[in-house]
Amino acid sequence: MKTELFTTSSADLKRAAELLKNGKRVVFPTETVYGLGANALDKDAVKSIFTAKGRPSDNPLIVHIADFSQVEEIAEDIPEKAKLLMKRFWPGPLTVILKRKDCIPSEVTAGLDTVGIRMPSNPAAREFLSLCNLPVAAPSANISGRPSPTDAKYVIEDMDGRVEGIIDGGECTVGLESTVIDMTGKIPVILRPGGVTAEDISELLGEVITGTKQTGDKEIPKAPGMKYTHYAPNAPVRILRGTIGEIEEFLRKRPALCGVLTFDEFKLDTDAIQISLGKKDNPNDCARNLFRALRDMDKMGAEEIYAPEIGSSGLWAAIRNRLYKSAGGHIINASDKEIIFVCTGNTCRSPMAEGLFNSLPDKGFFAASAGIFAETGNKPSENAIIALKEKGIDIKNHLARRLTPEMIESADLILPLTRKHKYAILSIDEKYADKVFTLGEFAGEDADISDPFGGSIEVYRSCANEIFDLVKKAYDRL
Ligand code: TXA
Ligand code: MG
Repeated sequence: MKTELFTTSSADLKRAAELLKNGKRVVFPTETVYGLGANALDKDAVKSIFTAKGRPSDNPLIVHIADFSQVEEIAEDIPEKAKLLMKRFWPGPLTVILKRKDCIPSEVTAGLDTVGIRMPSNPAAREFLSLCNLPVAAPSANISGRPSPTDAKYVIEDMDGRVEGIIDGGECTVGLESTVIDMTGKIPVILRPGGVTAEDISELLGEVITGTKQTGDKEIPKAPGMKYTHYAPNAPVRILRGTIGEIEEFLRKRPALCGVLTFDEFKLDTDAIQISLGKKDNPNDCARNLFRALRDMDKMGAEEIYAPEIGSSGLWAAIRNRLYKSAGGHIINASDKEIIFVCTGNTCRSPMAEGLFNSLPDKGFFAASAGIFAETGNKPSENAIIALKEKGIDIKNHLARRLTPEMIESADLILPLTRKHKYAILSIDEKYADKVFTLGEFAGEDADISDPFGGSIEVYRSCANEIFDLVKKAYDRL
């Protein structure tokens, strides 16, 4: 498919609007992130959005409008508080969930009886939407799971050849997706933190509930779209806790090419790639730079990305939320010791062991994995992803890597899944015998885990259970 590029001139916006009115997809800039738009009233056009993004269809889309009068065309039973909210924060980075009218097809709302509505403030978006003169369904214009695009060049990276048109409106000023607030209940619930903060909203409305409750380190998602690992670059992201000294020491010992997100005020003494999010006291800059920083890490070849833990007041809550999502909840302490699980291809057994181990409470160890004959960059096998997803663990962003002598040297403990793997490691150097044990041995059981590769989901499920049993026993012995 040929993708047509448009500027924000009125003539171009008119042509782009015609394209959309003809059932086609047009990516347009907003102040938050770029949106992949199609006619919200046209089922087929809406379905084609999901195809372009590779997005699961159980995740509802936001409907974008240019004029307040459109709200009543697509929503009903609009509470007074919702009206206040729209009046105060629209146009702007706020999506309001209301009861939907039947004209909105269930493809937009993933079968829910509610609809998310937003009126963006970006001038080109406003002009484009009013030229379209119909509600426009638009998710962020990234391939599903990748960081949302905050500049047309990132849209082109992800969407060239997948959509009919792209409007280049330069860099987005907010840089994080809108705040999503559910106004259908008694008390407003913030489902996704964003540019309009919880503080801003409660100043206007009184009590609001923030949907992402903190339970220990993991946040429970409320918006359907928040259950997936999101905003993730290709390399795995981890939140790294610790003092500057501990973090420098940690990075020095990592065998991989690391990337670390920092602030202008901190220059770390490390060879790792450092990208600053901005000044430590300026959340606006940090929000605007975050997704670009994650994409740049990929371009610079970072194999592991470390992000700081940050506070949760005001706009920081949204930045923190995106970082936690991109890390899939994976947080480590810089002073933690490293365990490496090892199998053959690093696509089934060892990434499952890694995910299972890291789902247990932090006990001074974090897990990684590698394969003796791994082809670096391979994705985990589909059934391994599913088997762990059933346990609430997300390993779809894992990338296979081959076990190197540097990894063996720097690890504190190495737990191969079978004896064969153990002997392969010890054949490199006997001196590692005091830190290499099969997972079975370390767990106090004489069990090798056989390779589920190519097996059915049942095979993977029982393999995951077997591994989990041993991982828990090994964990207890640490
Ligand atoms: O800033 C933004 O909101 C951008 C720009 C393009 O407007 N759009 C965006 O869309 O981020 P998307 O599809 O990537 O994220 C929409 C979020 C998802 O988490 C989805 O689950 C939630 O909004 N959402 C949409 N409709 C909903 C509904 N009816 N009930 C609950 N959550 C809803
Ligand atoms: Mg998105």
